[in-house]
Amino acid sequence: MRRLDQLLSSLGYCSRREAMAFVKEGRVKLDGVVVKRSDQRVDATLITVDDEPLEAPNGLLAMLHKPVGYACTHSADEGPNIYELLPSHWPERNPAVTSVGRLDKDTSGLLLVTDVGSLVHRFTSPKADIEKTYVVEVDRDLDSALIEIFGKGDLMLRSEDKPCLPAKLEIVSEKTARLTITEGRYHQVRRMFASQGWHVEKLHRERFGEYELGDLGEGEWRMLSLEQMPK
Ligand code: URA
Repeated sequence: MRRLDQLLSSLGYCSRREAMAFVKEGRVKLDGVVVKRSDQRVDATLITVDDEPLEAPNGLLAMLHKPVGYACTHSADEGPNIYELLPSHWPERNPAVTSVGRLDKDTSGLLLVTDVGSLVHRFTSPKADIEKTYVVEVDRDLDSALIEIFGKGDLMLRSEDKPCLPAKLEIVSEKTARLTITEGRYHQVRRMFASQGWHVEKLHRERFGEYELGDLGEGEWRMLSLEQMPK
């Protein structure tokens, strides 16, 4: 049970002071009955605001289809950022909604966002061993030798001291491949191809572990239930 004003402000609805106004205006109900005091302790799952249940009171997890040109940052200095594509109150939640890892500004595709810190850790820890699949378009014809080079587990990237873990490469057409990696090193996919003399022209993540974009359009997001999460 949590204080109503704290609850509403931690979910990004309003400040604690504004919660008093919400209550005065009769907008908040507990199990269908108008709440009288904003300092009342309540069960979040029974609260409605304007007759709508609270949004993700026990933690939020969503997937975004990130378009090219959006940075994974809360800073306004780097041009458009992914939070402009998400409900504006999400960064106001406490903890704030953040991305699970990052995609480069020039990369499109599946990005998870959450306010559950333990989930970020679980999804990004090197031990998590989560497969991420990218569709890669390169500047010149691919060579099937890359399948073994990426798959062996001894590919060293410049200025790193450990080789990349084995990655699966499937050649789809002359200049297009699908690459599945389990790590998330800085610019990893672009650097893996660059190490062999290919320039990545387009990069799109279509899968993150169990999650796939499906028919989610570019720039759109979809809520995921925490129960849907892989155990
Ligand atoms: N690898 C990259 O090079 N960039 C990304 O955004 C993701 C993986």
